[in-house]
Amino acid sequence: MKLITTIFIFFIINLFEFTMATTNDLNFNYVDKQGNYKKSSLREIISNEHPVFKPENNRYHIYHSFGCPFSTRVLITLKLKGLENCFDTSVVDYIVNKSVGWAFTSTTEGCTIDRVNNFKTVKEIYQLNDKNYNGRVTLPILFDKKTNVIVNTESSDIMRMLNSEFNQFSSFGKEKIDLYPKEYQDRINEINDFILPTINLGVYKCGSAENQQDYTEKFNILFDALERMEEILKRDRYLVGSDKITESDIKLFSTLIRFDAAYLQLFKCNKRQIKEFPMLSNYTRELYQMKEIQSTINFHHIKYWLFTFFDKVNPLKLVPIGPDLQWLNETHNRHLMSKYY
Ligand SMILES: *[C@@H]1O[C@H](CO)[C@@H](O)[C@H](O)[C@H]1NC(C)=O
Ligand SMILES: *[C@@H]1O[C@H](CO)[C@@H](O)[C@H](O)[C@H]1NC(C)=O
Ligand SMILES: *[C@@H]1O[C@H](CO)[C@@H](O)[C@H](O)[C@H]1NC(C)=O
Repeated sequence: MKLITTIFIFFIINLFEFTMATTNDLNFNYVDKQGNYKKSSLREIISNEHPVFKPENNRYHIYHSFGCPFSTRVLITLKLKGLENCFDTSVVDYIVNKSVGWAFTSTTEGCTIDRVNNFKTVKEIYQLNDKNYNGRVTLPILFDKKTNVIVNTESSDIMRMLNSEFNQFSSFGKEKIDLYPKEYQDRINEINDFILPTINLGVYKCGSAENQQDYTEKFNILFDALERMEEILKRDRYLVGSDKITESDIKLFSTLIRFDAAYLQLFKCNKRQIKEFPMLSNYTRELYQMKEIQSTINFHHIKYWLFTFFDKVNPLKLVPIGPDLQWLNETHNRHLMSKYY
């Protein structure tokens, strides 16, 4: 009875939040007209203290797109934490019909049907929480198979939950990696807050600029921020002063890996390629060459999604054949940066 009451309250709260989310602009989904990040309203946090959503093996499902960087950060976290057996996943189609939104297909290479509900569209998943839902439909989605509702659609929250709440189900056993270690949390938050508006969303802001002055401004902010990352990486192997990869690296990498392949041309972020930055290029190589990370990167999905989805900047939806991305597999020397070897 108590559980049912809690679930009911959870619905009421979400119903209220949903009525506040009204924009349904599939273009530049994550940024509002002022260029600010639009946070998700579905943000329940799984924990032993949560009345409904407890950490459990094989209870939750992740819906994602290989195209979308906010999905990639969650997928990388999942792999680095050894949680592939704890969560199952569905992969949405990278070709999006704007009148339907994100949808499932069984015929596109590398995509799946909705493995939980067998829905045709992602919007139907949102409608399990609110049957009149008509707001933003974004990925990734952390979904509860037990109560059959969405738990959380905010990638940063999902990363934190995967990092801290499911360690007992990790296939790595005791040898856990902590992507948000206590001693570095302030620094990680600081870096995350810096790279979100300038780099992670900075590329989209260049692409969504509607006049020369706005574009120039966003372009300069983006490349100044990349230079700042380059400076950090001259000193340290990873973004936060430890010898270990943290969530900040995952967030930066998810943008860097799309940069030369798509953003540079699509969003006119063409001051410099990532492969031309001495530190950022080797840093991107190192992360890409980790097998857990490489398994989350599908350039076909990345390019086809980006070049067809943002039709305002690419109305004919032609997908460029290049560039050559072989450089990502070349050797790097980042291990020499280690302070502890
Ligand atoms: C998009 O979906 C609508 C509604 O199902 C359909 O009528 C239309 O043909 C689709 N467009 C494309 C390009 O597939
Ligand atoms: C890098 O090498 C791996 C393993 O051979 C291959 O699967 C992948 O496609 C390569 N990546 C690029 C960008 O060429
Ligand atoms: C990047 O790695 C390559 C291969 O180890 C190395 O030759 C090059 O000097 C590195 N670049 C920098 C800036 O360290």
